[in-house]
Parts: sequence; C-alpha cells; structure tokens
Amino acid sequence: MPMSWAYSASRQRGEESLRTVHRALDLGATLLDTADMYGPFTNELLVGRVLRERRSDAFVSTKVGLLVGEQHVVANGRPGYVRRACDASLRRLQTDVIDLYQLHRADPEVPVEETWGAMADLVRAGKVRALGLSAVGARGGRRSRGRLHDGTIRQLERVQQVFPVSAVQAELSVWSPEALESLLPWCAARGVGFLAAMPLGNGFLTGTLTPGQGFEPDDVRARHPRFTAEMMAANQPIVAGLRRVAARHGEHVTAAQVALAWTLAQGRHVVPVPGAKRERWVAENAGAAGLRLTAEDLAELGRLPAARGSWD
Ligand SMILES: NC(=O)c1ccc[n+]([C@@H]2O[C@H](COP(=O)([O-])OP(=O)(O)OC[C@H]3O[C@@H](n4cnc5c(N)ncnc54)[C@H](OP(=O)(O)O)[C@@H]3O)[C@@H](O)[C@H]2O)c1
Repeated sequence: MPMSWAYSASRQRGEESLRTVHRALDLGATLLDTADMYGPFTNELLVGRVLRERRSDAFVSTKVGLLVGEQHVVANGRPGYVRRACDASLRRLQTDVIDLYQLHRADPEVPVEETWGAMADLVRAGKVRALGLSAVGARGGRRSRGRLHDGTIRQLERVQQVFPVSAVQAELSVWSPEALESLLPWCAARGVGFLAAMPLGNGFLTGTLTPGQGFEPDDVRARHPRFTAEMMAANQPIVAGLRRVAARHGEHVTAAQVALAWTLAQGRHVVPVPGAKRERWVAENAGAAGLRLTAEDLAELGRLPAARGSWD
C-alpha cells in the first residue's frame, strides 16, 4: 500500500517499488497483498508487472468493494460491480487467477450475503481461489475498546453461511492488539487465516519517526490521532520497549523486526503484511522471520503501556 496509496505521494518511486517487490520474493516472502483502490489501480498494475515474470513465486491477494472519488471513498458491493471489478483486477495483475479475493468493506446498501455470493461465484468460475474479509476497523476511542471487532464478527457469521471464509484481514500490532480479544480467536477456532495489517504501526513501531517531524497533507498520518507531535512523544515508551527486546537478541536486531516477530508469535495462522517501498526495509523486515521471541520478551511487550491518541 505505501508504494501507491495513503502515504506521501511525493515519496513514491515506481522503479524502486518494482525492485522492492522482486527483492521481497527473492528473500522468501510469498504473500503480495494489494487492493484495486490502492492508487487507485496503480498498485495492482505494479504487482502485475512482477507477476507476469514470476507468478509461481507469489501468493497474490487483492481486495474489492471500495471506490475512490475526488476526496472520498465509497463502498460498492453490488454483484454486477464485483464481477466487473474482478475481471479488471485480473487484467491489471496479469494473471488468470487471484489466490485470495478479499471484501475490503461491506457496502451498507447491499446485504453482505449478496456481495459474498457474487464473490463465491468467482471461485466457482476459477477466477479466484479463496475468499477473505477485511475488518470494518473504525477505531472509535476508549468507550468502544474491546468491542472494535464485534461488527466484523457479525459479518463473518453471516458470510460463512454462504461460502467459507479463508482469511480475515485486520490491524494487529504491538500498539493495536484489539484483534487478540475476539477476532483472532474466532479465526483460530475455524482454521481461518489472519492477515495482520499495519504490523509496524504505520511506521511508528520501527522507531525511525521523530515526534513533530510532520507529514505531508496527503499522508494519512497527517490526520491520525496517534501521529500528532504530542502523541508520538507520549507513545515513545512503546518504541523503547521494542528496542530493549531487540537489544537482547543482538546489536543488529531492530525494533521493526521485534514488532513483526510479535505478530508472528500470535499463532501459526497469523501472517503479517508490512508495507514498505524500499529494498532496505524489506530486507530488514524479512529478517524478522528468523527471530524467535522468548516468553520473557512476549511478557515484557505485553506489559507496555497502551497506545495513546489525541482522542483519549
Ligand atoms: N484491509 C485494510 O483495510 C488495510 C488497511 C491498511 C493497511 N492494510 C494492509 O497492510 C499493509 C501494511 O500497512 P501499512 O503499510 O499501512 O503500515 P505498516 O506496515 O505498519 O507500516 C508501513 C510504514 O512503515 C515503514 N517501514 C516499513 N518497514 C520499515 C523498516 N524496517 N524500518 C523503518 N520503516 C519501515 C514504511 O516506510 P516506506 O513507506 O518508506 O517504505 C511505511 O511508511 C498494507 O500494505 C496493506 O496491504 C490493509
């Protein structure tokens, strides 16, 4: 996603992104997670340039259901739209099958069973191998804590009646652990995979961002309640905790690697999907796969203070 969407467009570099995806595959990463709305469309085109050359090296997951307007994003879950969007994604991705097709957000105007039914037809047609659901995700502040994923679980129960869910995607990281309460157990109990989105806390957990550094207006962090100068300063104890654990594993181990190893430690069915547009970052992040956190490390990370946002 950061290669084409949500982060400062001025820092996006097509050729470097292409090299970065190849490097990730060379290093043994297999899952390429994209969405038709990233760009919009340009991220799928980028991934397609890689898949054209090495389709068998990658497991490709993309998403459907959100349309980008001038200054807004709207859901579209109508069956006819889903069918057309899938054909368009297949063309952009330069492949004849998508390994995992995810509903990005359910459309409030369309019963989710109808959207999911259209997606199931795509599996039967051989255009898609499996279906996934991306969590509703709206973070509502303290009052709703612990109930963040209730809406997603209700949707999952409904779509399961129509066609099996193979994977759920939702935010999961050291500073956003809410999915551990109910969503991850829901997946584990049913053999459903879990894609941990934003496992690096939009970059914060890597310790490379400085409080008050500022973000360009098109960067989501310019409006994110945890990325004001005050909150970035208030959340430094979380980065310090990741660094303490990293130091126990060697001088070259980084906070980013510990953050990713923490998500990997949450279960065999959990797959982190870190976003990165630089080769250097993917090389570092791939190193997390070899990092085994001890029970002591996990306990220490579990005791870190809850993240603060300007809404608190
Ligand atoms: N389903 C959904 O609704 C949803 C929502 C959000 C995200 N996602 C998925 O989750 C993926 C990851 O989310 P994300 O990219 O927003 O957040 P993230 O992975 O938590 O963080 C990405 C940021 O971290 C930086 N970074 C990566 N590795 C680094 C390292 N080793 N050291 C220092 N900085 C590093 C990247 O910098 P550069 O940009 O400079 O490389 C980027 O700014 C997305 O690509 C997408 O597939 C899904």
